[in-house]
Amino acid sequence: METTQLLNENPFLSIRKGRLYLEDVDLVEAAKTHGTPLFVVSENYLRQNIRAYKSAFETYWPEGTVKVLPSVKANPNIAIRKIIDSEGGGCDTFGPGELECVIRAGISGENIFVNGSIKSKEIIQKSITLGATIILDSPKELDMCIEAAKKLEMRANVLLRLKPWLGDTDEMSDFIPSSEIRRLTQTIKYGIPKTEVLSMAERLICCDEVNLLGVHIHMGRHSKKLSVWEQLIKSYVLLIKELSDILNGWTPKIVNFGGGFAASLDKETQVAQTNYATPTVEDYAKSMTSAFRSRMTEANLSTKGIMIQVEPGRATHNQTGLHLTTVKNIKHETKNINHTWAEVDTSEVFLGIHGVNPTPPFDYIVASKADEPNEMTCDIVGMTCNAEWLFENVTVPNLCEDDVIALLNTGSYIEPMAANFNALPRPGMVLISGDKCNIIKRHETVDEVFSRQVIPAYLDKKSI
Ligand SMILES: Cc1ncc(COP(=O)(O)O)c(C=O)c1O
Repeated sequence: METTQLLNENPFLSIRKGRLYLEDVDLVEAAKTHGTPLFVVSENYLRQNIRAYKSAFETYWPEGTVKVLPSVKANPNIAIRKIIDSEGGGCDTFGPGELECVIRAGISGENIFVNGSIKSKEIIQKSITLGATIILDSPKELDMCIEAAKKLEMRANVLLRLKPWLGDTDEMSDFIPSSEIRRLTQTIKYGIPKTEVLSMAERLICCDEVNLLGVHIHMGRHSKKLSVWEQLIKSYVLLIKELSDILNGWTPKIVNFGGGFAASLDKETQVAQTNYATPTVEDYAKSMTSAFRSRMTEANLSTKGIMIQVEPGRATHNQTGLHLTTVKNIKHETKNINHTWAEVDTSEVFLGIHGVNPTPPFDYIVASKADEPNEMTCDIVGMTCNAEWLFENVTVPNLCEDDVIALLNTGSYIEPMAANFNALPRPGMVLISGDKCNIIKRHETVDEVFSRQVIPAYLDKKSI
């Protein structure tokens, strides 16, 4: 894509004296100072995204409050959580690792929402002690909450994670275009099966140890079509009504819509189908809240004072991040074929794009030659022993050693999935805020790559 178009899409990118800047930081300098490969996050872009979500939902949900809980999994970093907290955002955590991340960030219990399958006794006890809210995923977890609450002489705050049946839609998933969303949302493991949730509700009628605050869903990034999301809300409310009937007219104080809404540029490599328009956050907020309001009214349930929660992962983080890599070598073949390779110091295993990539997986700008014309055709290839066609047969400015390339929109899910293939240490991360550029995760060291390995005594040289 043309550089000018890429700059138009991202208000925090600019070109100054031929160099690419994020906020007020020269990315070539950042690459030299901190070393590449390097993940980079824009603090002000992150703040802007959280405010946009909050204000869109607040505009369309005057009946109650709104809480934005950006998912930790998209960028599990302590400094990032502190920024989100300072914007009034809470945390959707999954499992003990992410809970530890937000504890280390100093987040208070009322802003922590603990998701996760097969929760351990320890995580349930810790959550109750913190005053966090536990999203129940199975009847077994209810038993564990009751037991832990009794032991701690406290009450457990819980939401029930539901699995509404999207019976009225036969839309296919953008993730797996050969599968129906309604089937995937039932067969993918998360949530309490309907068969089990109704009997759980019966147990909750007179359960002093557990405070049932509300309900939760997470459909996932299956579709950008608002009609699908409205269908989800319709089936959600039908299930809430069934629970309400069992629970003698109970209504939820909290209704969580989960995450799964696409990032506005939506070119994510993990999603098969991205080639149709992405609604704005305002359109999404309007359609979700109005569908919820009207379905609740139809079901004769009050919406007064309900807190709406949303858990945007990719939509919060995707465009806040970019990835810097340095050209290390240029190779030419002119004998049997004409071919040029630009070898760079990153890898598909750091970027979540395993295998051959016929189309460029990311938009990119050569940060060190940002206003130079495209004059060279080459493959930009990564550093492992795989084929590593990051960008095949692309036309770029005349690349040479030490040029820096910025891969755009790499802010969600990519860094936490980086692997150690070829025993490579994984890249670090910097945070840019105005003209400041600070390390928020240092590069892994070679010692750390091998730090978990143990040599059994009998293989020790002396004893062989
Ligand atoms: C419970 C829950 N909430 C929110 C999210 C974030 O999803 P996304 O990044 O698609 O918005 C996830 C992702 O798996 C999730 O499991």
